Amino acid sequence: MSKLYLVGVGPGSEKYLTFEALNVVGSSDILMGSKRALKLFPDTKAEKIELNAKNMGEMLNLAVSKACEGRAVALLSTGDPGFSGVLKPIKKLAGKLEFEVIPGISSIQICASKLQISWDEANIITMHGKGISGELISLLSNGRTTIILPNNTIEETVEYLLDQGIDPNRRAAVCENLSYENEKIVEVQLKELLNEQFGYMCVLVVY
Ligand SMILES: C[S@@+](CC[C@H](N)C(=O)[O-])C[C@H]1O[C@@H](n2cnc3c(N)ncnc32)[C@H](O)[C@@H]1O
Repeated sequence: MSKLYLVGVGPGSEKYLTFEALNVVGSSDILMGSKRALKLFPDTKAEKIELNAKNMGEMLNLAVSKACEGRAVALLSTGDPGFSGVLKPIKKLAGKLEFEVIPGISSIQICASKLQISWDEANIITMHGKGISGELISLLSNGRTTIILPNNTIEETVEYLLDQGIDPNRRAAVCENLSYENEKIVEVQLKELLNEQFGYMCVLVVY
């Protein structure tokens, strides 16, 4: 039976792949995902199609149409598909096509584990697809630890927070490249994050 599977592949290292993700990928005809996600499955015989920020819309449509044609398609999503992942756009595109979500370990979860944060007591917010907004500022004022997936650089995000009057001495952390060999975790005062260089793959925490 053909189907579209939205497969969470975790934060990056193969050690955080689930058995179910491996099973579904192993029985798919087509694998679609970022270069990084596709690299997790070097031995698959499935056809591989690379997604990137520029071709995302076109490729999600292609995933739906290939599945409608009868192919088993695994659409790989870093972390979990339901958190700033492919679930939201696919729900809009799928129409009557049946699809299934295979959960993955989100970068938010790995971050919470590394920093020993009980995430049932934390604010969790993504800036992906919406930019930095006042919503973040009001969360930062409710007394809970806030775990943020930034859309801008850490520098831009911290500058915004300081401009909005957030206390520069608040404790903060950045978890970069979680689960990779170059993983870096920095815990300092918020203002001190401006002295560090970070790439795109970061989770920001403000205590
Ligand atoms: C489009 S969102 C996808 C989030 C993903 N669905 C999840 O559950 O983690 C991409 C963002 O996730 C975060 N991210 C994903 N993998 C990460 C990792 N290994 N280390 C740190 N942050 C990561 C970064 O903030 C990155 O900009």
